[in-house]
Amino acid sequence: MTKKILVLNGPNLNLLGKREPQIYGTLTLEMINAQMRDFADLSGMELDFLQSNHEGKLIDAIQEADGKYDFIILNAAAFTHYSIAIRDAIAAISVPVIEVHLSNIHARDDFRHQSVIAPVVMGQISGFGAESYLAALNIVYLKLGGNR
Ligand code: DQA
Repeated sequence: MTKKILVLNGPNLNLLGKREPQIYGTLTLEMINAQMRDFADLSGMELDFLQSNHEGKLIDAIQEADGKYDFIILNAAAFTHYSIAIRDAIAAISVPVIEVHLSNIHARDDFRHQSVIAPVVMGQISGFGAESYLAALNIVYLKLGGNR
């Protein structure tokens, strides 16, 4: 059966491409999503994408993912650093979550060093630009027993 993966992006990631390109790169979110879709098509995975600037929308999506998806790839953006509500939503579901960041959050401002979601996700990939998402998708593929 085709594996289903939900790719969730938080606030300001809709601005990728023009947002602080020296930190986040020049690819738009649509371009990153297209790269992920290419990988998924070759690997027999089905992707759904959601970007929201609103904490509640992300929480609703996480809750609704339970039982529907095999994995979630999540860039919670700034919510990473303080949203106990997103952390609790992740802890409440049984879908494994991979946390991704374009930038290396540990090499930036002190307030970005802490991820309140890190303790409740499977693991974190941080600092590889758009490749952070592709690395996460590759891990999903391997964890789901993929075989290209
Ligand atoms: C980010 C890092 C966060 O600190 C920041 O608030 C973002 C993007 C990243 O992908 O590098 O919006 O999650």
